[in-house]
Amino acid sequence: MRASGKLGFLSMGGLAVLGIASIASSQSGPGGLRSGLRGNTPLQEEGPAPRLLPQANTDIREARNYPEQPPVIPHTIEAYQLDSNVNQCLSCHARLRTGESQAPMVSITHFMDRDGQFLASVSPRRYFCVQCHVPQSPVKPAVGNGFVDIDTLLSAAPAPKK
Ligand code: HEC
Ligand code: HEC
Repeated sequence: MRASGKLGFLSMGGLAVLGIASIASSQSGPGGLRSGLRGNTPLQEEGPAPRLLPQANTDIREARNYPEQPPVIPHTIEAYQLDSNVNQCLSCHARLRTGESQAPMVSITHFMDRDGQFLASVSPRRYFCVQCHVPQSPVKPAVGNGFVDIDTLLSAAPAPKK
């Protein structure tokens, strides 16, 4: 009995400490908790939806940050239908359409099924293009990013020998 009483006391102490910590963090921003996309909105509330921004439409293909990166989309896709009935992306990016559209063809990986077999047309797992490819908008990033390109990393001064 005594032991469990003591444990109960200990865990209450723990709760009190947590309580203080959460008050401290909720005071860190002007209106409460500050975190990336949520901003100041308390966790149990839904904040206002951010405004939709115009999509970049430069038509200039962006360099990839690493070879396996799905290239970002350098044109607007606002008006293109992409659902189980219609894939408008393929009306330009499919093999037979690229002569007319001058769009880059979906690469051969898009024809592979999960066993590495090449199918005659785009594999179902590559059908919903925007799972991987995204248009760009001029926004201030919600969180910081310390990504360093591999070429930059390799050309950096070597670490001193031990
Ligand atoms: C009207 C034709 C057309 C349609 C429809 C279209 N694209 Fe494109 N896309 C292009 C062309 C042309 C380019 C080459 C760059 C440019 O001119 O914008 C391109 C470039 C791209 C690139 C960049 C490729 C690279 O190597 O950098 C991606 C990714 C892409 N499109 C994805 C899509 C997706 C996803 C959709 C559907 C939501 C789509 N496109 C619909 C014509 C089209
Ligand atoms: C599961 C993720 C995924 C999906 C879904 C997907 N892609 Fe890709 N895509 C990639 C990756 C990764 C690359 C770059 C490496 C490669 O070619 O596989 C790429 C490359 C491309 C390229 C550049 C090809 C080249 O040779 O330069 C185009 C264009 C493209 N995709 C268009 C599309 C279109 C259109 C769709 C929808 C029909 C689509 N992708 C669906 C991941 C995806």
